[in-house]
Amino acid sequence: MDQKELEKELAAKEAVKAVKQNQIVGLGTGSTAKYVIIELGKMVKDGLKIQCIPTSNKTAELATSYNIPLVDINMVDHIDVTIDGADEFTKEKMLIKGGGGALLREKIVASLSREEIIIADASKKVDKLGKFTLPIEVIPFALNYVQLQLTALQGKGKLRQLDGKPFLTDQQNYIVDADFGLIDNPPALAEKLNQIEGLVAHGLFIGLATRVIMGIGDSVQVFN
Ligand code: 5RP
Repeated sequence: MDQKELEKELAAKEAVKAVKQNQIVGLGTGSTAKYVIIELGKMVKDGLKIQCIPTSNKTAELATSYNIPLVDINMVDHIDVTIDGADEFTKEKMLIKGGGGALLREKIVASLSREEIIIADASKKVDKLGKFTLPIEVIPFALNYVQLQLTALQGKGKLRQLDGKPFLTDQQNYIVDADFGLIDNPPALAEKLNQIEGLVAHGLFIGLATRVIMGIGDSVQVFN
């Protein structure tokens, strides 16, 4: 296993220690969150009783393949703990997410969670967010309007493509990847993006992560 994968796995193994019997657990999306599903699969096999809420169709499929019980998010009034990945994070626990296109559900699940644990390999830690272009989920009808608003905010938006066609999210929306350069004030930018009609979610997660667990070398570093 290469170093990055090892760090992802170490972070996942540390994070699942937060999961307790009979809890409702949010499952993230992506190559790091995958290790959580593998670990939880083993724990369920050994008798752990949990109900899980996946943040994407892909995660739902993977969790089902490990016999992890799922529950409809609309059947619960809270989530005890969610474990998810990130594309970038700072030591203040500000994040960019959405590289996998699951940002809307990830943000809803994070908002309903009492504890939002982010796991990452060491390459995801940055001093300032923004090297990774910011994923933005847009209703197709609003694409042109949103692009114009992003330009007004000095962002360069690019419609995400897959196999020569616009990438579609689980909600059948588009993703615009927006380059704002390094972001001096993420909360202020998040606030401005929140005002744009037709923009359903952006990948700036501010004040949502309660803990970041980073795998580094053969150990983990925790940001509380
Ligand atoms: C998906 C996400 C992922 O958490 C993020 O893209 C990190 O993915 P990976 O663990 O594969 O690097 O936000 O929408």
